[in-house]
Amino acid sequence: MTRRAIYPGSFDPITNGHLDIIERSANMFDEVIVAVLVNDGKDPMFSLEERVEMIRAVSRWSNVRVGTFEGLLVQYAVEQGAQVIVRGIRAVSDYEYELQMALMNRRLEPRVETVFMMSAEAYSYLSSRLIKEVFKLGGSISGLVPPDVEQRMKQRFPS
Ligand code: PNS
Repeated sequence: MTRRAIYPGSFDPITNGHLDIIERSANMFDEVIVAVLVNDGKDPMFSLEERVEMIRAVSRWSNVRVGTFEGLLVQYAVEQGAQVIVRGIRAVSDYEYELQMALMNRRLEPRVETVFMMSAEAYSYLSSRLIKEVFKLGGSISGLVPPDVEQRMKQRFPS
């Protein structure tokens, strides 16, 4: 049986922390689908198409592909034939929200298992939200996002 995992999120934009989790997942599962949420109502910095493009540009694993989804994540997982949802956990503070989601998803669809992965220590404080804030205030985000993403952010918001 093909072990297929979904790694869902907003990815606005993808960070080195996300890439670390994608790499760990690619090593663990036969196939990984990085699934970008459509319409998350968070007033994103990058459009859905841009976010997908950026992930494609930096994803270097042959068993990883990028998709988009609307509506319930577990429904998308079933449609894609995925048995697993991967979520990265950075700190204890992530755990409560992640536990709620995992248990709700299990209630909705018991066939889909959530697997938590710890991000590398170096990225354990990283979030897309902080990256955007630091960047907008003129701080350096070098080494925290892939060079491609940093480039795009600079083009979009020249200082
Ligand atoms: O990493 P993010 O941006 O916090 O991702 C959140 C995401 C996309 C995993 C979550 O919002 C989600 O799964 N949304 C889809 C709607 C859904 O299934 N909601 C019920 C989850 S309990």
